[in-house]
Amino acid sequence: MNKLFIVANWKSNMTTSEVEDWLEEFRVQQKGIVVCPSFTLLQDIKLYIINHKFRLMLGAQDISPFEPGAYTGEVNGEQIKEFAEYVIIGHSERRKNFHETDQLLEKKVQQSLKHELTPIFCVQDANTKIPQGVFLVAYEPIFAIGTGNPDTPENANKVALEIKNKNKTVQYVLYGGSVNSQNVHSFTSEEAINGVLVGGASLKAKEFTKIIAHA
Ligand code: PGA
Repeated sequence: MNKLFIVANWKSNMTTSEVEDWLEEFRVQQKGIVVCPSFTLLQDIKLYIINHKFRLMLGAQDISPFEPGAYTGEVNGEQIKEFAEYVIIGHSERRKNFHETDQLLEKKVQQSLKHELTPIFCVQDANTKIPQGVFLVAYEPIFAIGTGNPDTPENANKVALEIKNKNKTVQYVLYGGSVNSQNVHSFTSEEAINGVLVGGASLKAKEFTKIIAHA
């Protein structure tokens, strides 16, 4: 494995004061760490990173499928690019709760690539459609998300390999779903897995620090 990504997906959690505490506790200076907070927190974290010469990279959790313009409520790629380098697209929570379709997700990927944001494209299995241009994928089986019931490392590795074989442009596959400091190494030590996408366990700076240390 030549590259390890550890990505935190904070989902719809954290206020500005909670983030301050998190950042004060988080003292890791390692490459490949990406934190994906809500849009409202991006600016504060970006300033903190600059002021404290942190190595941390930032990602958004969503992107508008449209160009800038009359799309009330949307945050577009040009705006995100001011703060972040990555964007999570196609998370199963968005597919389920916001009825995001393959067609819409393709537009989101196009917008992110246009603005030089790297999509972290989430798939639920090896058959999920992956839009062109995606090279970083997160395999997140639905049964494992937020349940404390992760996939087995062996099966995750098998699916990661299948994804890479089916989609020749995909270079990196992360595993996500109930990852914590106890089980992270069992996933990152698998041949075809290039890192992890961590939800719940990334909300506590201490636990996320441990995850990085054990990966
Ligand atoms: P979880 O979430 O780590 O809380 O299971 C992972 C995700 O949904 O990205």
